[in-house]
Amino acid sequence: MRRIAIVGAGGHGREVADVLRHAARAGEALSIEGFIDENESLHGREIEGLPALGGWEWFDRPARREVQVVCAVGAPNICRKLVLRARALGLSFGDAISPLACVSPGAKLGAGITLFPHAVVGVGARLGNHCILNLGASVSHDSVVGDFTILNPGARLAGNVMVGEGCNIGMQSSVIQGRTVGAWTTIGAGAAVVRDIPPGVTAVGVPARPLAVRRTLGAGAQSAVRAITQAVTPNS
Ligand SMILES: CC(C)(COP(=O)(O)OP(=O)(O)OC[C@H]1O[C@@H](n2cnc3c(N)ncnc32)[C@H](O)[C@@H]1OP(=O)(O)O)[C@@H](O)C(=O)NCCC(=O)NCCS
Repeated sequence: MRRIAIVGAGGHGREVADVLRHAARAGEALSIEGFIDENESLHGREIEGLPALGGWEWFDRPARREVQVVCAVGAPNICRKLVLRARALGLSFGDAISPLACVSPGAKLGAGITLFPHAVVGVGARLGNHCILNLGASVSHDSVVGDFTILNPGARLAGNVMVGEGCNIGMQSSVIQGRTVGAWTTIGAGAAVVRDIPPGVTAVGVPARPLAVRRTLGAGAQSAVRAITQAVTPNS
């Protein structure tokens, strides 16, 4: 029986608790210890029927080091920080995989993955460590997703897509086959990625284009810049 603690008692963490409960109900041998959260006002309280155990100091007792953690926050940069902290404490990571998720036997999953109901991971696809596929998100054949990347509800990657580390792929967005999304990029809700998107930007719209270009320049120059951007966007 694996014991698991959920790091993060916010909305996402509470949903992860449901995923784990469904897994236990479907026969997976796991027990949920409760939530770890640095917010002291939560400590000792009950959240969704589970105890808020405390902060990282909860792991000070050696017997608790056997408890796996799943980092359950919906922001890749914060998730990375929590993972680094857990690693520094020598903790191990567990996954939270809904019995309603569908993972190809030909897919590879890293450590600490969370898969919500109706998430699909296709044949030959690879998910890095601590990725989250929220409700109905899908990663099709041979696509590769970097560590800490989140696919929000209904986000879809076609086949042979590469998404770098730390990306936040907005709900109901899609990436067509063979495209690349650079590391630590955010894709807006509903976007359609039909060209490669560089690292470290926020891209929105149909077709998706980086937002930062519009923001970093004065309002008066925006229309001229938009024309230039369209001319230089990779693969356009
Ligand atoms: C893309 C996103 C991250 C931008 O957030 P932000 O940095 O706060 O940007 P703003 O809200 O200031 O919007 C900036 C501009 O982009 C536009 N914009 C924002 N999101 C957009 C989207 N998804 N599609 C199209 N345009 C969008 C805004 O209308 C605004 O345009 P303007 O400058 O012409 O007025 C956010 O809007 C988004 O789509 N997040 C995904 C949410 C999600 O999937 N949540 C799942 C939770 S489970």
